[in-house]
Amino acid sequence: MIRRHFVHFSQLTITARMLYTGVLCVLGAGYLAAMVFVFISHAGRDGKPALSEQDIVIAYAGSNSGTKLESALMGPMSKMLQPDENLQIVEWVRKGADKAEFDGKIGPLMTKRCAVCHNNNNPHLPSLESYPEVMKVAEKDTGANIHTLVRVSHIHLFGLTFIFFLIGAIFKHAYFRREWLQAAIIVTPFLCIVADIASWYLTKLNTEFAWVIIGSGALMGASFSVMFFVSIWQMWFSRKVPPQPAAESNV
Ligand code: HEC
Repeated sequence: MIRRHFVHFSQLTITARMLYTGVLCVLGAGYLAAMVFVFISHAGRDGKPALSEQDIVIAYAGSNSGTKLESALMGPMSKMLQPDENLQIVEWVRKGADKAEFDGKIGPLMTKRCAVCHNNNNPHLPSLESYPEVMKVAEKDTGANIHTLVRVSHIHLFGLTFIFFLIGAIFKHAYFRREWLQAAIIVTPFLCIVADIASWYLTKLNTEFAWVIIGSGALMGASFSVMFFVSIWQMWFSRKVPPQPAAESNV
């Protein structure tokens, strides 16, 4: 028996169905564009082309492999100085790149070994002549900063709520024999939005939360697809009309 106040797609006017279809199609295109955007802005951060859990960790929590300075000293710059000098610089960075120690020891060492090439006359190389300049390559990559995260969070919280409210308001006209299932599909994306955004911050504390970001994103996409396809199908293609209320059929 059908629920009270339930209006199935088949009972809507063509105009209402056209409106819903327009909204669904444009939202669907927007969702696809968002997926492409996520891919191009995160894939390859870890040096491998595909989008992986590691890319997400680097985006939100930063890279553990250290600073630009360390990777240069272990790689192409390792021949520019003695191994023990190299070790001094690396240890200095790892201990937190202290200013006093820079002035006493590391600065003069860099002036001797590095400033021939890394000076302000060469626009293509970072200058290593002063503490602030060295710090630009000695800063730890800590991922997206809090200011950026807060900005993106509020846009996502408002934007996604709006999108899932619209699609849910359309999808509620679909007929499901199990009403709880339909309700679960409508509620899932809202839970995912909260879990996703909270995990952006939590990934900074524990990188395992990158999996929550991936999982909630996938679940949100799955709910979107189900609501999209079921709505379009029941609106235009399905001939099955849901059972009518007993009260009405008795009149
Ligand atoms: C003979 C010239 C020369 C000397 C001396 C030299 N470098 Fe370099 N350095 C380069 C060049 C050229 C590059 C860019 C090409 C590359 O990365 O291989 C570079 C790149 C770097 C980078 C990476 C910059 C970036 O933006 O990714 C760092 C960091 C660096 N050097 C640090 C040092 C340090 C520290 C020293 C001193 C111990 C030093 N270099 C000595 C020529 C030099």
